Amino acid sequence: MGIKVGMVGVGSFAQCFIPLFKAHPLVDKVVLCDLDAAKLARNAAEHGIAVTCPSLDALLETDVDAVAIITQHWMHAPQAMQALRAGKHVYSAVPAGITVEEIAELVDAVKATGRIYMMGETSYYYPNVIYCREQFERGAFGRVVFAEAEYYHDMDNGLYDVAKWRGGDRWRELAGGPPMYYPTHSISQVVSVTGAHMTHVSCQGVVDQHEDGLYRADVNIWHNTFSNECALFKMSDGSAARINEFRRVGHPGGERMSMWGTKGSFELNAAGVAWVTKQRDEVKRLDGIMDISGVPAPDGGMWTGVSSVHPVARLPRAFVGKPNGHWGSHQFLVDDFVTACVTGIHPPNNVWQAARYTVPGIVAHESAMRGGVLIEVPDFGDAL
Ligand SMILES: NC(=O)c1ccc[n+]([C@@H]2O[C@H](COP(=O)([O-])OP(=O)(O)OC[C@H]3O[C@@H](n4cnc5c(N)ncnc54)[C@H](O)[C@@H]3O)[C@@H](O)[C@H]2O)c1
Repeated sequence: MGIKVGMVGVGSFAQCFIPLFKAHPLVDKVVLCDLDAAKLARNAAEHGIAVTCPSLDALLETDVDAVAIITQHWMHAPQAMQALRAGKHVYSAVPAGITVEEIAELVDAVKATGRIYMMGETSYYYPNVIYCREQFERGAFGRVVFAEAEYYHDMDNGLYDVAKWRGGDRWRELAGGPPMYYPTHSISQVVSVTGAHMTHVSCQGVVDQHEDGLYRADVNIWHNTFSNECALFKMSDGSAARINEFRRVGHPGGERMSMWGTKGSFELNAAGVAWVTKQRDEVKRLDGIMDISGVPAPDGGMWTGVSSVHPVARLPRAFVGKPNGHWGSHQFLVDDFVTACVTGIHPPNNVWQAARYTVPGIVAHESAMRGGVLIEVPDFGDAL
């Protein structure tokens, strides 16, 4: 028997996930929920969904087993806790929360309720991250000594529109948030490979100078002046990691990482992808792993938007030909969550990992506001 899933927030990003929850063989029913009645009706018609709910409160009164929260990013933690306490499993878009206190409370809520919580971290299933996880597991890095990861997204690359549809009339107050409050795409690329977590941070913020004024302390509700933040972390395995979150940068954008070990290293940047060792004549070019033009399914059709390193054989056959996105990650995330709800086994991106992807950024911003002082990063432990 499958589960019933309520999708909370049917805005832009949810468009990628409604068809996948609907298609998953272990999902019996999908209910759509949004505060915007016109948007809700439009989505119900477009996706062929019969049942809708006008609010999260109303949805939690129904018999859905799980909710997928794809609302604005500053709402996630309170909404996730409300749903957990109502007895529902929770899938949340990133980030898990925007304060250390609410994330601590979220971890406690998962422990107290025994429900499944998963943060839909797309970077976890990026081809480069999958490749590095496999190399790490087979010992090819040796001891990892340093990693770099970044999420570059200049305001000019679509972020004004995003801010307007997420913030509505208040978009100018909400657009200029601290970049390190959205750190999960970059941090997860390190943490999900080595399993080590951040223990200490020193961060520098770059004060914005753009004439749009979004990053002025008297304009945004975060009183934030930094549009770029650069943090150096000490890791629990004794290595170091540098994380950049940039919103003003002459770069096409995206999430990337490189990682250096005592035996081998992985490098990814705009020039390409390579695995290197101490042998100067042994540079292995890996540009092909980032080709996500799709993979033929053995019994016909195509797995769309995936690369040769994606373990597509584990996905439900019903996903063949269905939409995918963010470097092939969407289908894996939906399958991880549904499988976890059905089996009761925590998914890879569980609440403890979500905390390790999110909290270091929040503390990094605190460090940046204090001129780069070294601060300890709280940790909430491993999955139970
Ligand atoms: N790579 C990634 O992981 C990735 C990419 C894009 C977006 N996202 C995340 O997805 C989330 C949504 O982004 P978006 O661009 O779709 O935003 P959006 O503004 O288009 O959609 C959010 C929707 O949530 C609804 N909503 C808010 N509160 C609600 C409530 N209490 N009950 C029901 N509905 C409610 C809003 O009415 C809106 O329609 C963001 O948190 C963002 O961080 C993640």
